[in-house]
Parts: sequence; structure tokens; C-alpha cells
Amino acid sequence: LNCFIYFILVFSVQARDLKNVLESKTCFSNYFAFGVATASYQIEGAWNVSGKGESIWDRYTHEHPERVFDHHNGDVADASYYKVKEDVRLLSQLGVGFYRFSISWSRILPDGLSNNVNEDGIRYYKELIDELRKNKITPVATMYHWDLPQSLQDLGGWTNPIIADYFLDYARVLLDNFGDTVQVWLTFNEPLSFCSDGYGGDDAPGGRSSGFEDYMCGHNMLRAHGMVYRMFDQKYRNTTKGIMGVTLNLPWMEPATTSQEDQKAADTARQFMFGWFAHPIFSQDGDYPAVMRSAVDANSKRQGFPRSRLPKFTAEEVKAIRGSYDFMGLNHYTTYLTKQGSRKIKTKPSFDDDMNVRISQKDDWPKSNSTWLRVVPWGFRKSLNWIKANYNNPQILVTENGVSLEPGLHDTKRVNYIDAYLRALHAAIFKDGCRVFGYAYWSLMDNFEWMRGFSERFGLYEVDYKSPNLTRTPRLSAKYFTSVAKTGCLPD
Ligand code: NOJ
Repeated sequence: LNCFIYFILVFSVQARDLKNVLESKTCFSNYFAFGVATASYQIEGAWNVSGKGESIWDRYTHEHPERVFDHHNGDVADASYYKVKEDVRLLSQLGVGFYRFSISWSRILPDGLSNNVNEDGIRYYKELIDELRKNKITPVATMYHWDLPQSLQDLGGWTNPIIADYFLDYARVLLDNFGDTVQVWLTFNEPLSFCSDGYGGDDAPGGRSSGFEDYMCGHNMLRAHGMVYRMFDQKYRNTTKGIMGVTLNLPWMEPATTSQEDQKAADTARQFMFGWFAHPIFSQDGDYPAVMRSAVDANSKRQGFPRSRLPKFTAEEVKAIRGSYDFMGLNHYTTYLTKQGSRKIKTKPSFDDDMNVRISQKDDWPKSNSTWLRVVPWGFRKSLNWIKANYNNPQILVTENGVSLEPGLHDTKRVNYIDAYLRALHAAIFKDGCRVFGYAYWSLMDNFEWMRGFSERFGLYEVDYKSPNLTRTPRLSAKYFTSVAKTGCLPD
């Protein structure tokens, strides 16, 4: 009987796919999922109510308001904490199959250090998850999207190895409470961003940019990820039937010229920015990428340090981290050109000196409202192919892709961005054989874009920050995305 059902299913899907092919439509398979993404600090608001504890982003935006665009902060943001029904209605109108959101650690464990669970926090996410399921939208939950409880930062945050144990405890609370209703988990979002910006620079809360702390952050994040994945695999997988991955970000790094030097620079940049986290998890080697290991080891030596600034994994850690995934979460937005750098090794060490690559973007690549983001759809296809070739063609969920533009409802540029990137994705799947099973647009609605405050808008829905209700209005791109999500096909 099972065989028969399977045959009917596969045959009917193929028949439908065949029809699309005959009509020469650009369609994704019926198993392919479309969704949208957000993150707790960027949308929830309610920063200090219903038992929520202080996070590092609360502290940072309150202590250094001048560092964020126009002194904005996430105290209120999109007030999504109070708008579960309204926001799920937006999702349901979009016709998306999944919603990627993140859970605020300090809403669940307000003081970070003890295991006192905040029942109001649990209730909020339960309500959200239930509402999603009622509307047949699959919840995809990120455990950590940068809002660490401040009490843990006071102990050194991601530089203190003990953080992995605290993250494990937090993850256990999440799996115990939501494991029966959330089947798709991401441990971390973009460790490159929170480790480099926070612990290797001043663009986010974190450490002191010593040239040590960013690597320590990455190391402890990887240890924490490995521990949580193993716990999930051993204790929760059978009962919850869930899957777990991690979201990494890969901007495409294209050699500026065909010279060997520039090609090498491109590979070095990919290894430092993506391989840093991908290699220990998705390759068989059980270490950081070889170019990274040799560059940081050698520079550390030259700088007179007896140990490499890039920490080493123990055999036990390698065992936990290697292969700790069911799929890869990928964030991709843009492309850079690479040239070999000419940095002298200084006594004050840094990640940028270790990588030693100069990056730029082409003037004629269309701009967005973010300085770092230009529209280069072919870089998406190349990124996916590079991952396929380097990490044994893993299953991929695109957890973010999107563009910031000026406010306004008639956002044809956003429609064109999404359409072009989806065509690149389609080619990567159907022409190149990359195994991508879903795509999330960033973001459902405008939100707090970290250091850029509310000035950079990525939303399919426009949020009116002047209106008392923070009214959400669908843009043209919401209409476009609805048709893609509902039909699985791009318009002719
Ligand atoms: C990556 C981050 O995960 C998200 O928080 C951010 O808003 C978007 N990219 C856009 O910059």
C-alpha cells in the first residue's frame, strides 16, 4: 500500500512538473517550501515586560545610543510581542509554507545564569507556534539570533567556554517546551556576523576586538552547536521527528581578475568568512580550513604568541562537531570582488590582517539602501555551487535573502531582486543539481536593522513607524511573493 501511495504521489507531482515543463514555466517542485524570516530583537519590542531579562542588545542600544542610526533601538520595534494573530494573518495572506523566527534567550531564561524559566515567555512562543500551525505554516525556530542575556555577557559572553554549557541548558528548555510542535531547528544565525562585528569590531555588542576574541567566539559557538546537536540527536530526534541545522552566511567572493593571485584571494576570503564555521561542521577534516589554520598559526607566531590565536578542538569536540547537521541554513544577499591584500603583520592582531584580502564591489552593480548590498543574482548560483562542490552537496534551506530599499509601497526594484535571485536559485537546483529544499525572504516586514536602526527597510510589508499601531501594509513585492509561494512558479 505504501508503495502504491508513494507511486501516486510521485507520479502526480511529476505529471504536474511535466505540465509546467511543457508550458516552459519556471517552477519549483511541489516539495519546495517558500517562507519569510524575522528575528526576536528586530521585531518583538516588549524588551522589559512579562518577565523578560536584559539582553546585550538592550544594554548596548541604551548605553551607546549614539552608535545606532538616529538613536534607534528595539524597545518597541514592530511590537510583534503583542501582535501574534495579526502577524500570522500577514503570513497566511502571503501563502507561505513556513515562518522562520528566533527565540529571545532572555525572554525564556531572564537572568541567563539560573534555570528559572519565564512562563510568560514560553506562553508567547507557544501561542505563536500554535497560531502558525492552525494556519498550516511550518514553524522554523532559530535558537540564537544575537540577543544574548546580559548576565552571560558579563561573564565574557561567547569568549568564555562555559557559555556552551549555558547554551545547552537553554536549548534543552526550548526542546522540552517546543520540541513537539517545532520540527525545524537552527541553533545559530550568522556566527560570522556576531563574532566579527561583536568580538572583532564595534559594530555590535561583544568583546574588545583583540584579534583573539572573535576566534574564541567562533570556537565556543561551534562547541555549543555540536553539543546541542548531539543532545538533540540522542534525546529528542525520535520523539520529536525534527531536524536541526545552523545558519551560515556566504556572500559570493569573485576574483577581481583572472590572475592566480586574485583567485587565491577569493578562495581565502570564502574560507575565512564561511569555511571558518562550515569546515568544522560540514567537512570531514575536523578542523578549521587549512588556509585559515596556517595563516593564523603563522601570524600568531610572528606576533610572538606561544599559542595560535585560532584555538584547537579536542578529539571529543571534533567528534561532536563534525557532521552535526541535518541540513545547512544559508543566508545570501550579495557579491564582492577580491584582490590579494598587502597588509603588514602588526603587533595588534586582527582577523582582517590574517585574511589579508581586499574586497570591493563593481560600480555598475545595482545598489540597494544598504552600503554593503548590491544586486548580483549570479553570485547566488555560484555560492550554491561552491557549497555543493566543497561540502558534499548538503541539503540546504535558504534561511535569508532580501534587499533594503527606500520606503514606499510600489517596490518594483524589490520584485526584480527577488525574481532574479529566484531564477538563479532555480538554475542552481535544476541545472546544477544543488539540493535546496526551501527559500525564505528577509524579511516579512520592515524591522530594526541593527546599527542602521529602522532606516533600512527589507520588508514585504511596510511598517508605518509613525502610526500608533505600527500599521503593516503589503508592498507590491508582497503581492509578487504571494503568487510565487502559492503557485510555486515564477511569472512569465
Ligand atoms: C542578516 C541577519 O541575520 C539579519 O538579522 C539582518 O537583518 C539581515 N541580514 C539584513 O542585514
